[in-house]
Amino acid sequence: MTEYRRVKGTRDLLPPETAVWAAVEATARRVFGLYGYQEVRTPLLEHTELFVRTVGESTDIVGKEMYTFPDRKGRSLTLRPENTAPVARAFLEGGLQSGPLPVKLFYVGPQFRYERPQKGRYRQFHQIGAELLGDASPWSDAELLLMLDRFLRELGFTELEVLLNTVGDAASRRAYSEALRGYLQPHAEALGADSKRRLDTNPLRILDSKDPKERELLAGAPALADHLTDAARAHFATVCEALDDFGVKYKVSDRLVRGLDYYTDTVFEIVSRDLGAQDALVGGGRYDELVADLGGPRVPGIGFAIGEDRLIEVLPASFRQRAAAAPSVLVVPIGTVPAALALKVGEELRGAGLAVEVEAAGRALRKALERAGRLGARWVVLLGEDEVGREAVTVKDLKDGEQREVPRGALAAWLATRTESA
Ligand code: HAM
Repeated sequence: MTEYRRVKGTRDLLPPETAVWAAVEATARRVFGLYGYQEVRTPLLEHTELFVRTVGESTDIVGKEMYTFPDRKGRSLTLRPENTAPVARAFLEGGLQSGPLPVKLFYVGPQFRYERPQKGRYRQFHQIGAELLGDASPWSDAELLLMLDRFLRELGFTELEVLLNTVGDAASRRAYSEALRGYLQPHAEALGADSKRRLDTNPLRILDSKDPKERELLAGAPALADHLTDAARAHFATVCEALDDFGVKYKVSDRLVRGLDYYTDTVFEIVSRDLGAQDALVGGGRYDELVADLGGPRVPGIGFAIGEDRLIEVLPASFRQRAAAAPSVLVVPIGTVPAALALKVGEELRGAGLAVEVEAAGRALRKALERAGRLGARWVVLLGEDEVGREAVTVKDLKDGEQREVPRGALAAWLATRTESA
């Protein structure tokens, strides 16, 4: 055992699990591509101020969870805790706001939050996310949710719950913040230190509280839904109607406010009962002020991020099986047939696009067949002395146990046609 261990809260992803991750990501790329999303890759490091400004000073992420450190010149840098603010920054810095809108971007990659590690919660975790910039219409909210729904269905999910809410536009939130502050102020002494501070800075954040005493107090608080402007109400109604039309099931959850400050109007989470305490699989919503907050023009946006670690934790077995990457062919030299010939046959087959393992270890035939089974190979190509003399090989189909002789020159084509239809 090495004395070097991975850093607490980080994980090594090893095969065969990495094949499952790759298959999930390939599905995301394909499905998001159907909706016109293109990949964006932003740095893992950003100036700290980016997150303070957008995610918000009074959030847990900025207040407690960021990996922030000075670089050698004393500038404050942060390992990105989320990727919406970096994408908005890159959008502006790349001048994409002056091209055709909307711009549709997706990303796959690690994020960092200094949280207490537990099942489904890591300090380096991974997100698959999508952001649509430059369209304020509720129909783009609906289309984004349809894309997410399609992706999750393609992975085989059926039992997930979509929680949907609106936090309203800026005017709705201003009115609501006042009402909430008015309600909580007389109970200020009963609030914890965090919430007491938030009462002044950002009372909406208090709705996130996990503290049982505060939750009880919040049960009697005024509802955000009663402070929505007509425009915010109409936006949300259209999103709900569109989802109803397309048969996407959701539950309106009027306490859902999300833990980041940049949200406006539609917000959502997707939760899984199979996940335990950390049950949020996806979080997202609209952020119509974010680009302007970064000093750009007012470009509305909406997006989501899927927690990939959690997604894979509860991935349906059917998808997992399909993702298992198995070679289709094992080539085995028998008796005095040299390993070099097996390697040569292997190269010919790979040239024809087949995934091949070559048995060069000189194992007994029985052991080699066991290995083929373990690898999940479909075919074993046996190079016996007699067949090799006749320029032929014996092919064993592990699916039905049948065995036949095939001329070596025809082998690649013979296997390739049968593997495609397998
Ligand atoms: P978020 O809700 O903070 O939103 O994170 C999205 C998802 O990332 C969560 O639902 C969860 O699955 C996963 N996640 C978060 N923290 C951890 C952790 N410590 N360990 C494992 N998984 C975790 C955002 O990050 C927003 N940027 C989403 C968004 C995109 N909104 C608009 N566009």
